[in-house]
Amino acid sequence: MSLLTRRRLLRRAALSASAAGAVRTGLAGATAAGVAATTTALGGCDSPPERRTDSEPDRGLRFPPNFGWGAATSAYQIEGAAKEDGRGESVWDTFSRTPGRTRNGDTGDVAADHYHRYAQDLDLMRDLGLRSYRFSISWPRIQADGAGRPNQRGLDFYRRIVDGLHERGIAPMATLFHWDLPQALQDHGGWENRDTAERFADYADAVFRALGERVPVWLTINEPKTVVQNGYLTGHHAPGHRDPAAAYLVAHHLQLAHGLAVQALRASGVPGRIGPALNLHPCYPADETAEAAAAARLYDGYENRLYLDSVFKGEYPRDVLADLGPGSRMARGIRDGDLKIISSPVDLLAVQYYTPIYVTGSGDTIQKWPTSEAGWQQIYPEGLYDTLTRVTRDYGRVPITITENGLPCPDAPGPDGTVDDAGRVAFLRDHFAAAHRAIRDGVPLESYHVWSLMDNFEWNEGYEERWGLIYVDYPTQRRVFKRSAHWYRDVIRRNGL
Ligand code: FCB
Repeated sequence: MSLLTRRRLLRRAALSASAAGAVRTGLAGATAAGVAATTTALGGCDSPPERRTDSEPDRGLRFPPNFGWGAATSAYQIEGAAKEDGRGESVWDTFSRTPGRTRNGDTGDVAADHYHRYAQDLDLMRDLGLRSYRFSISWPRIQADGAGRPNQRGLDFYRRIVDGLHERGIAPMATLFHWDLPQALQDHGGWENRDTAERFADYADAVFRALGERVPVWLTINEPKTVVQNGYLTGHHAPGHRDPAAAYLVAHHLQLAHGLAVQALRASGVPGRIGPALNLHPCYPADETAEAAAAARLYDGYENRLYLDSVFKGEYPRDVLADLGPGSRMARGIRDGDLKIISSPVDLLAVQYYTPIYVTGSGDTIQKWPTSEAGWQQIYPEGLYDTLTRVTRDYGRVPITITENGLPCPDAPGPDGTVDDAGRVAFLRDHFAAAHRAIRDGVPLESYHVWSLMDNFEWNEGYEERWGLIYVDYPTQRRVFKRSAHWYRDVIRRNGL
C-alpha cells in the first residue's frame, strides 16, 4: 500500500478510537461544536421531554406494504454469559480483558445479559412492533475452538431465539459472524490464515443444518472492512494489530469466507436467502479540485468497491490493487478461482450506513457536518440516499436490506424515569425519509434495521456510548423504552412517517 493511502486510512480509523476521549477532555473542538450544532439542527439528545410522539404530524410518507421494520444487535455486544453452556473464548474476550484496550476496562462478560433475559427481550421486540430482528450467532458458542462437532447447547440457545421470534410474528435475520472469532483460531493466525475461511464455512454449514428451516435470511460477515481497518490497521478493535500488509490479506480471506458460506448454504439444500453485510461510506471530494476527485475515488475503492466489486463483479478494483502494489500480501494470497467463489450469486445486499467521508486532494479527510457522540460519525442523511441509489446504479437491482443505521446519544433517565432521546428521533426520521426517497427513485429496499435494539457493549467504547432504542440500566439490567422506541412503534404502525 502506498504510504499516502496508509496514512489516510490510519488517520480516519484512528478518529473513531480517539473521538470519545477527546470529547471527554474537551480537546475536540470540532466534535464538540458538531454536537452543539446537531442539538440545534436536530432537536438534540438532551432537549426537554415533549408530548408522546403519536401527535407527530403525518408527512404522508408510506413505505411499501410488508416493509420489514426492524432492529439489530450482535452476540458479543448483548449476550453476556461468557463462560456458560460450553462457550469458548473469542478474540473479543481476550482483547477486552487486556488492560487499556477498552474504555473503563469494560468487557462483554455480562453485557445486557440477553443470554438469560432473552424471553423478556423478545417480548419487548413484540411490544415495539418489530417485523424483523437481526441478531448474530456467536461462533465460539457453536464451536468453542472454532472447529469440530457443534455444541448442542449453543445451537439450542439460538433455536429458542428463532422460535420465540416466530411465535411473536417477527422474522429472524441471522448474521453468522459479527467479529467474535474463536480465540483458538486467532492463535493459528486468525483471518491472516486462509484456513480460517474454510473453518468458517464448516461452522456456517453446521448452523444452516440446525436452524436453516426457520431462518429466512442469513448474513455472512458483518462489516469485513471494520475488521480490516480497526482490527489490523489502527488496532483499536480485536485482535489489536497494526499491520497494513496483513490487513488486506485479511480482507481477502474475509471475502473468501463470505463466498464459501454462500456456497455452503446452497449445498445444504436449506431454503434461506443469503448476502453480505457491508458498511458503505459515500466518499465525496472535499472541494472542486481534480486532486480531491482522484483522492476520493481511490478512497471509495478502499471503503466500498473492494467489498462490492469482489462480490458483484468477481474482481477486485484495479486502482486498489495497484495502490497496494503487485507484491502485496493480498495480491500474493489470491488464488485462481477465489474470485469465482467470492462472487457466488447472493440473494440480497445488507447495507449499513452511518457516515459520509470527505477527502481532500492530499488524501486527508475533513469534517463537513455535525458529528455525533461517536466522533467518526458525521450526520448526513443524504449520504444514505446516495449510497442506496449508487449501489442500485452500479451493481444492479439486487434486493437491499438496511441492517444498521443509528446514533449514539448521552441518554439518561430524567426525574420521571423517561429517557428523552429527541436527537435520535430526529436522526432516524431524516434517515427514514432519505430511504423513502431512494425507494421512490427505484431502489429495491425491503427492510430497515435500526442500530440498535438496546444499549450494549460498544466495542472499545465499552458501555458509555449508548446506541439503543431501549435504555439498559446495567446495574439492575432494567430495560426502559426511550422516546425513540415509542416513536418507532408509531412509525411501524403507520408504516411510514
Ligand atoms: C457498526 C457495528 C455495530 C456497532 C455499530 C455502532 O460498525 O457493526 O456492532 O458497533 O457500528
